[in-house]
Amino acid sequence: MKIKLQNKKIKDIKCDIEIILLDKHQLKQHKLVKILKLTGFDAKQDSVCFLHEQKILFCGIETFASENIRTSLTTSIKVLKSTAYKSAKINALSQNNISALVDGIILGGYKFTRYKSSNDKSTFTTIEVAINTLDYQSAKKAFDNAIIIAKATNFTRDLVNTAPQDLNPKVLTKIASELAEKNNLTCNILNEAKLKNESMNAMLAVGRASIHESHLIHLCHKPKNPKYVISLVGKGLTYDSGGLSLKPASSMVTMKLDKSGACAVLGILKAASELNLPIEVHGFIGAVENMIGGDAYKPDDILVSKSGTTIEVRNTDAEGRLVLADVLTYAQEKIDADYLFDFATLTGACMVALGQYTTGVMGHSNRLKHAVSNAAQNSGELIGTLPFNNHLKKLLKSEIADISNISSKPYGGAITAGLFLDRFITDKNKNRWLHFDIAGSAYTESPWDCNVYGGTGAGVRLIVNFISNLKQAK
Ligand code: BES
Ligand code: ZN
Ligand code: ZN
Repeated sequence: MKIKLQNKKIKDIKCDIEIILLDKHQLKQHKLVKILKLTGFDAKQDSVCFLHEQKILFCGIETFASENIRTSLTTSIKVLKSTAYKSAKINALSQNNISALVDGIILGGYKFTRYKSSNDKSTFTTIEVAINTLDYQSAKKAFDNAIIIAKATNFTRDLVNTAPQDLNPKVLTKIASELAEKNNLTCNILNEAKLKNESMNAMLAVGRASIHESHLIHLCHKPKNPKYVISLVGKGLTYDSGGLSLKPASSMVTMKLDKSGACAVLGILKAASELNLPIEVHGFIGAVENMIGGDAYKPDDILVSKSGTTIEVRNTDAEGRLVLADVLTYAQEKIDADYLFDFATLTGACMVALGQYTTGVMGHSNRLKHAVSNAAQNSGELIGTLPFNNHLKKLLKSEIADISNISSKPYGGAITAGLFLDRFITDKNKNRWLHFDIAGSAYTESPWDCNVYGGTGAGVRLIVNFISNLKQAK
């Protein structure tokens, strides 16, 4: 889909259709109110009325809040993609809403078609956004930035949606090095021999039964004189069968999504480099496949992690935290960052706690959680914070090793997973670290907001917004 900003009045743009968002109040005053009422259109959020003679697609909107603009545009684009029209135009509503408008169009209009054999491509290709009352230069900047971020989100979605036989750990290293080449990032990849040298035994154990070698990927966007340094760590389980603690058949379906944290890190690096953000951004990815086999790691195994902390494996399906334990240790040893964030589809419990749409955020610094809440509000992603406490921490006690990889009680599973990771965060980094559990928010089987079936790109808009505001802070 092409999307163009036009420094013109809407009436001077030639397109097949005009999209008009109308609230109830505007409906009453509209010159076509009689016909609109006859069709039953009441301007309810996401209701549509297509007047083909007049060449107008009306979409109802409750208020002109960003989330409503995003979903109204998503609805409108879906309607237009099902027609034989080629182009549409819309008035930019205000400077503040430009990113919501772009997200509705680019994210709401996204479709993953790699595995569809029939070429049922929509004829609808172009949207022109008119801007006449706004300051063109600043609108253009907001528009271009929003397009970079939305496209990076779709890049992440494409990776998440790719089938596990086409995207194994080795393929992920190839995708990362191609991104590095294209976007001028530094790139260092560790294969299993190198991971052994680094004593990353917890990560290696998880990947041992797979026919695909595990890899650690380290990418960096390194501008001159960066104002801050940030390290991002991503869980890259290209498939999670559960290992010997095998998942039930129905839970295993969708487990290609378990690489979403890694894919979000790649999307954030893509956007940060294309936006030329004056922040040094490191991405560390643990690319691993959790499978079964004669060589599989087992419940009862004791793993000696890179940090030296010994881990009793009581469930091989709690594998993400084992991979992250080693990658977090590696990231902290390599880079002394101002902020350390990890992204992981870590627990089903996070979905139970917060619902499917909300990313669970955990960490020690209230100030940092507050800053991330602001970024969530500005970017349109949903987050909820889950509080640590020492009573839950005790549930990770092991009789035989330093820590168990699962809690001894079934409640608070997202938090106990976060507390497991906390064990691998050094004292110096405690207040610089946040853990993002994107188990629910990274993938959807039914559309919501500007998300369609499959990967949502959770984390990309959120963190790019957070990093962009760091730039403004100094
Ligand atoms: N990858 C899963 C978590 C997950 C579940 C993500 C559903 C998205 C949707 C993770 O590795 C896992 O299996 N976690 C277990 C932990 C348990 C064994 C303590 C879980 O959530 O059941
Ligand atoms: Zn698992
Ligand atoms: Zn997993």
